[in-house]
Amino acid sequence: MKEQGDLNDLCNLLHNCQMRRMKQRDDAFPHYHFRPPTNWINDPNGVIQWNGRYHLFYQHNPFGALWGNMHWGHAVSDDLVHWEHLPLALAPTEGDFDEYGCFSGGIVDNDGVPTMIYTGTQAAPLGAMPYTQHANIATSQDDLTTWQKFAGNPIIRPPHPKTLIGFRDHNVWRNGDHWLHIIGSGVQDVGPTAFLYRSDDLYEWEPLGKLYQNDGLYFGDEFVGSMWECPQLLDFGRKQALIIGASHNDSTVHTSYLIGTMVGDRFHPEAAYRLDYGNRYFYAAQSLIDDMGRTIMWGWIPEARDDELCVAAGWSGVMSLPCVVTLGEDDRLRFAVAEEVRQLRRERFGVEQLSAVQSDCFEIVAEFEGNERVEIGVRVSAENQERTTIFYDPESQTLGIDRSQSRRDGDGHDLSLLTGRISAENRLHLHIFVDASVIEVFANKVAVIIGRVYPDAEGLGVRLKSADAALHQFELWTLDSIWH
Ligand code: FRU
Repeated sequence: MKEQGDLNDLCNLLHNCQMRRMKQRDDAFPHYHFRPPTNWINDPNGVIQWNGRYHLFYQHNPFGALWGNMHWGHAVSDDLVHWEHLPLALAPTEGDFDEYGCFSGGIVDNDGVPTMIYTGTQAAPLGAMPYTQHANIATSQDDLTTWQKFAGNPIIRPPHPKTLIGFRDHNVWRNGDHWLHIIGSGVQDVGPTAFLYRSDDLYEWEPLGKLYQNDGLYFGDEFVGSMWECPQLLDFGRKQALIIGASHNDSTVHTSYLIGTMVGDRFHPEAAYRLDYGNRYFYAAQSLIDDMGRTIMWGWIPEARDDELCVAAGWSGVMSLPCVVTLGEDDRLRFAVAEEVRQLRRERFGVEQLSAVQSDCFEIVAEFEGNERVEIGVRVSAENQERTTIFYDPESQTLGIDRSQSRRDGDGHDLSLLTGRISAENRLHLHIFVDASVIEVFANKVAVIIGRVYPDAEGLGVRLKSADAALHQFELWTLDSIWH
């Protein structure tokens, strides 16, 4: 135990030193969004509340700022906001079933034994998928800190590997006296697919066929891709939501959700919606249900700058803020950043004090008449040459993040416009989070846009353009860093 404690202290010391170095050299580094101090991070994995503490695992390359060598990183929090880095939880084993990488998965409580189900990947014979993917198990005896891989891995192999586009990512939950398990996949020339399995003990799995397979690339007007990454079924009682990472031609496209009902072993979707309109800037969502019964979701926010720039910066990827997900009466999901994040609030600015704001680390809570155009400029440079504009246009019912002026030199950066559709009807309620290069926008809790910007000037100003009469509420709070 002592050794483990020393290891954790060392981990945090290293983190703080690296953090100080990062801050000196990179204004894009977030202050209150979780990420490890250096290198690459992608999907949230195995999110779980264990003995009251929130555990966040994540896809991590400990050796570089680009994707590769997939390990599971690990952090823990008592309040969902401040995180403590813990030692790496999982590493690929050479010559074994996860030699090519330990991909995404989940953790469940198996009668007091923390049990992780993850995708092991291995170089495949020619002619098959570039690498084989299968389900593996590991358990922990020391409160989720170290993990022992099961000697009988893999526990599930792909059913018909030649026709599948991927077979990975695991959503496992207890259902009465057995376990259910969804695996993301796609069947070539047919459509994206979520496979369903059932088990009494988490080790022996019986295939139950397809939880749901979409016919083609679209559900109604919603593009759902050819393969689903990180599918997760959320149960809201009268309806269920299948959250999916829409992947196509090996690229992450966006995150959507299908609303429907489970009948026996099959999901019957009725409608599909975009979970986040920022395209690929929110991906691989994963949620836990905490002791208060809240469904709390995180997702991976990738960079919007070239690999070369990420390598130069020494890091890539950010975790989204913890978000509470509920089902609205209209059978669409509602997204609200967890209340705990309020504890970061430091100084309040009303609308009349806006010109005094100099910050890249704040939150805005505002409400407007739904029929007026609104523009909020953030990361605005002193001479206004650089700015990022969050806007709502009632005529086209468009919510957007305009990044075209977010930096003068666009080389190597994605400055494209991010837009979503929302009918604000009476009122438009905006909740906006700005954290160095990360922007999260929530409109009426229904439409979310997450994006990234990298101003090259200081860009600490905030501007508001809206008719006075249209403004019902506006407050800006500067926020503290989550790293002490
Ligand atoms: C989604 C994803 C998963 C996979 C992991 C690999 O971003 O591609 O499908 O398990 O990332 O890092």
